Parts: sequence; structure tokens; C-alpha cells
Amino acid sequence: MDALIFAALTIWRLLPAYLANTLAVVFGGPPPIDGGRSCRDGRRILGDGKTWRGLVGGTAGGMLVGVAILLLGRSQGWDEYWHADWIGVLWLFFLLAFGALFGDMAASFLKRRLDVQRGQKAPGLDQFDFIIMALLLAGLFGGGWLGSWLFDGLIPLLTIFIATPLLHRAVNIIGYKMGLKNEPW
Ligand code: CTP
Ligand code: MG
Repeated sequence: MDALIFAALTIWRLLPAYLANTLAVVFGGPPPIDGGRSCRDGRRILGDGKTWRGLVGGTAGGMLVGVAILLLGRSQGWDEYWHADWIGVLWLFFLLAFGALFGDMAASFLKRRLDVQRGQKAPGLDQFDFIIMALLLAGLFGGGWLGSWLFDGLIPLLTIFIATPLLHRAVNIIGYKMGLKNEPW
């Protein structure tokens, strides 16, 4: 397969994870998941940037993105989810979408422990936290789907490594311009 198409396919397959994060910004709003509580270190558990609405909206939205991908693929006579029934594919989309938000939450927990304020930059972590956790959950519990293509040559991993920070940055600038986000990163 043409390398560029293969790269694009990688992004396409992972859109439930990429967009879950974006949709959390769209749907997010108080109350925060940690309920305003702090850890023993006196700093917030997660902070005001992690909300129930963002978590639920992002997870549900990301799963819908997955369904859209599946239906679009099938309408073109192409189905890579044939191995699973509907419950199986919804579970997979859940793992990708929830995994992305869970990774983002884990990073916020870590940032607060390191005394990094909400919204403050954490280079590396901010760009990759969500995709790493999404891949981890989908790989561990997604029934072989991820493993069937992720290590097919170097292109999928290379694409994720290069495209994730670029997509992350682009989406955040758009979110910032639309007034959804407080910082352009
Ligand atoms: N958001 C949310 N719920 C989530 C994730 C994100 O409501 N589970 C919303 C919040 O409004 C948040 C915005 O999306 O401010 C941007 O997300 P992110 O950059 O991850 O949060 P930050 O505000 O930067 O906070 P942190 O420093 O904890 O990452
Ligand atoms: Mg942030």
C-alpha cells in the first residue's frame, strides 16, 4: 500500500481517540470530576480542566465517531471490524475514546502532583498522554484489532509519533480561536 495512504489510514482508525479529546473541550463544563477536592499535597486532585461533562461527552462522542467510521467504511464495501459483533466494536470504540480521556486525566493528576497549574504547558505529556492510553487500553482489551495493524511495518507508529503533536496543536489553536479553550496549546 502507498505509504501516505497507510499513514492516513492510521489517523482514520484512531479518530475515535483523537476526537474524543477534542469533543471533551466542546462538551466540557463544571462540575469538575474531583469535586474541587485536593490531595494531601494541598493541590487539586485533577483540577478544573477535567469535568464529568467533558469525560462523558467526549467518550460518547468518540464512540459515535467510531460508528461513523465503521458505517462509512461499510458503505464503501470495506470493513475491518468484521471480526466483532456490534457489542465488540462499540467496546473497541469505548476503549479508544475513554482511553484518550483517561490518559488525559492521568496526565492532569501527574501535573498537579508536580505543581504544574491547570492549563500550564507540560511538553511531551500534553501531546501524547491521550493517545498512549488509548492505544494501551485498545491493545490490552480490544481483542487483537490494534495488534493486527499497529506493527505492520514502521508507518503506523511513525505516523502516530509525527502526526499526534501536529494534530494536537492544530486542534488546540482552532479551539482557542473559537473561544473553547483558554490556551492555544
Ligand atoms: N475538558 C473537560 N473534561 C475533560 C477534558 C477536558 O471538561 N475530561 C475541557 C476543559 O474545559 C479543559 C479543556 O477541555 O480546560 C482543555 O483540556 P486540557 O488541555 O486537557 O485541560 P487543561 O485546562 O489544560 O487542564 P490540565 O492542565 O489539567 O491539562
Ligand atoms: Mg492542557
